[in-house]
Amino acid sequence: MNPKLLCLILLAFVNVHAQTITVSVPSSAPTAAPTLKPSLFSLSIEQDYWPDWAGTTEPNTFFVNTLENLKNRTGEPPWFRIGANSQDRTDFNPAVQYSETVPVAPSVASPYPEASEVIVGDGFYQIAENLPCGTNVVWGVNLLTNNMTAAFLEAQSIYEAFSSPAMVAAGVTLDSIEIGNEPDLYPGKLNYTSTNWNVSAYIAQWTRIATNLTNSGFVSSEGAKFLGPSWAGVSNAAKGFTPRGIINGGMLSSPAGQLLRTYSDHHYQCGPGEILSDLVVKANVRSNLTQLKPAISLIHSMGLDYVLGETGSCWGHGAVNTSNVGGAAIWTLDYTLFAGTLNISRLFFHQGVGFKYNAIQPVTLTRSILDGSPLSSPLPPHVQPPYHAALVAAEAIGTSGVTTIVELDIDDAAVSGYAFFENGVLKRAVLINLTLFFAASGAARGSKTIALSVTGTVQIKRLFIPSADATTGLVWAGQSFDTEDGLACGDAVEETASADSIVLNDTEALLVTFLDNGGY
Ligand SMILES: *[C@@H]1O[C@H](CO)[C@@H](O)[C@H](O)[C@H]1NC(C)=O
Ligand SMILES: *[C@@H]1O[C@H](CO)[C@@H](O)[C@H](O)[C@H]1NC(C)=O
Ligand SMILES: *[C@@H]1O[C@H](CO)[C@@H](O)[C@H](O)[C@H]1NC(C)=O
Ligand SMILES: *[C@@H]1O[C@H](CO)[C@@H](O)[C@H](O)[C@H]1NC(C)=O
Ligand SMILES: *[C@@H]1O[C@H](CO)[C@@H](O)[C@H](O)[C@H]1NC(C)=O
Ligand SMILES: *[C@@H]1O[C@H](CO)[C@@H](O)[C@H](O)[C@H]1NC(C)=O
Ligand SMILES: *[C@@H]1O[C@H](CO)[C@@H](O)[C@H](O)[C@H]1NC(C)=O
Ligand SMILES: *[C@@H]1O[C@H](CO)[C@@H](O)[C@H](O)[C@H]1NC(C)=O
Ligand SMILES: *[C@@H]1O[C@H](CO)[C@@H](O)[C@H](O)[C@H]1NC(C)=O
Ligand SMILES: *[C@@H]1O[C@H](CO)[C@@H](O)[C@H](O)[C@H]1NC(C)=O
Repeated sequence: MNPKLLCLILLAFVNVHAQTITVSVPSSAPTAAPTLKPSLFSLSIEQDYWPDWAGTTEPNTFFVNTLENLKNRTGEPPWFRIGANSQDRTDFNPAVQYSETVPVAPSVASPYPEASEVIVGDGFYQIAENLPCGTNVVWGVNLLTNNMTAAFLEAQSIYEAFSSPAMVAAGVTLDSIEIGNEPDLYPGKLNYTSTNWNVSAYIAQWTRIATNLTNSGFVSSEGAKFLGPSWAGVSNAAKGFTPRGIINGGMLSSPAGQLLRTYSDHHYQCGPGEILSDLVVKANVRSNLTQLKPAISLIHSMGLDYVLGETGSCWGHGAVNTSNVGGAAIWTLDYTLFAGTLNISRLFFHQGVGFKYNAIQPVTLTRSILDGSPLSSPLPPHVQPPYHAALVAAEAIGTSGVTTIVELDIDDAAVSGYAFFENGVLKRAVLINLTLFFAASGAARGSKTIALSVTGTVQIKRLFIPSADATTGLVWAGQSFDTEDGLACGDAVEETASADSIVLNDTEALLVTFLDNGGY
């Protein structure tokens, strides 16, 4: 075709359809599309207040309901990683029933600080039986104190809890044991310095404890494995606290090291000073996650699984009015699904009682998560905006167990999209507008029409977010989950539309189901 003519046709298209974005959707899955785990969205729990999450003599019904909502959508509940900072402050005492903590006084900067010391007994691990049937658990033991007895007693209690008839009957499984949290950050703690603590010292200390747990039968090729090294930092360097560093240092070669089957790195996109308009940016989500690509392919080449064993929007329990608002739901959804396209198996979103970035607050709170000030009335257990991202991702993945994902190529800096296939057949898509609509802006909420390159009718479910700065009022497909019991309120609402004219508002995500493709 004459280039000038082509240009005229394109110009005409732009003029007539100024509000339409055309998006090409592959009708069958590209071969490189990774398969998504049903539990792509998983949870990491700060273990100091673990009994608040699980419940002790009785399950925490509210929390269990929020997990069952996710299990209902994918067939599998989220996985749990329990430990984090407080795992390296934990000791074991058989005389303690569940746990005893030494609390830290709250402050404006840290309204819900982690306990400085945690002493646990057998019941602490046994209450994992309160989790939904089918839950897999990764549990952390102490590496920091380099106390073999403490690590041994913790791992023994974990092993016994998960071997107990009650836990087996509950269908809750121990997937792995994690020895140490963020050991690259040990210098400055206890007697660790940047001179005496390097990757070789780490490997030696880890291997000594891991060998004991393996020889004790707590970790084995038939049973639970190891997960690690759980660095705080991400780096592709050949030396140091990096994937290449542990491989070259021989960590995977010892009999215990051969049982390290899941490589876990921690990643937060930003810190506690982050503003929402820097967090919810398509390019930032991509640059933050694509830096992990060399590590992911190296780890996969070693035959290990790659997970983000602790992740979230902003480290330090989240950023005020950024991690806890509607815009964070948009961020969580885009971040989770983009990680899925990179073949990251699971993202364990970190949670602690009263943390700002939580998807779920499992117990009644009496002070503000933003500044620690006393609340005029207690705030019962509730879900926060990021929880809704988990619901959308769960429905997009579905129950097939073989769903694959590709990112859609969308020529718009604020719109992202993903397509989902089952057995190679196009089933669903997610469309996300990352443009932030603020309640006080005074402007009308923007929207655009998306024209997908497939024909036929689609079913649409909408994640309604009142505004990017709203902390409540989110509605997924007509249903509210911000309820007393954590269960959906209202009937599910689905719209139908033609695949070439789907309306997407600002600060909104849609789940599109293709009705005419493969007889869904
Ligand atoms: C994704 O990672 C798994 C290992 O976790 C690997 O077996 C699989 O081949 C990878 N898939 C792709 C498409 O790279
Ligand atoms: C989800 O819940 C519905 C209604 O209770 C039920 O029919 C369906 O089988 C559940 N799906 C899964 C995967 O558990
Ligand atoms: C592991 O360490 C504990 C505590 O020091 C010790 O009692 C136990 O004998 C060790 N087990 C093995 C198999 O080395
Ligand atoms: C090591 O752990 C054991 C068991 O928890 C405890 O009794 C002991 O005091 C600890 N040792 C040190 C040096 O802290
Ligand atoms: C710190 O002190 C403990 C207890 O004395 C010892 O086992 C450990 O090796 C020391 N760690 C370092 C990094 O020097
Ligand atoms: C690593 O630290 C140990 C002491 O903990 C030291 O003996 C060793 O020389 C250090 N290695 C390097 C390469 O710095
Ligand atoms: C990650 O995103 C934040 C904004 O949220 C940005 O400041 C930072 O530079 C990004 N990091 C990378 C490695 O892309
Ligand atoms: C956070 O948002 C709340 C509610 O809009 C507001 O009252 C508070 O001043 C904000 N805090 C900061 C630090 O911006
Ligand atoms: C996303 O929101 C922005 C801001 O109003 C708007 O300009 C853009 O058209 C929207 N994009 C889509 C695809 O809806
Ligand atoms: C979003 O889009 C739907 C469908 O076009 C429309 O009904 C709704 O009013 C829009 N605005 C908001 C704020 O949801």
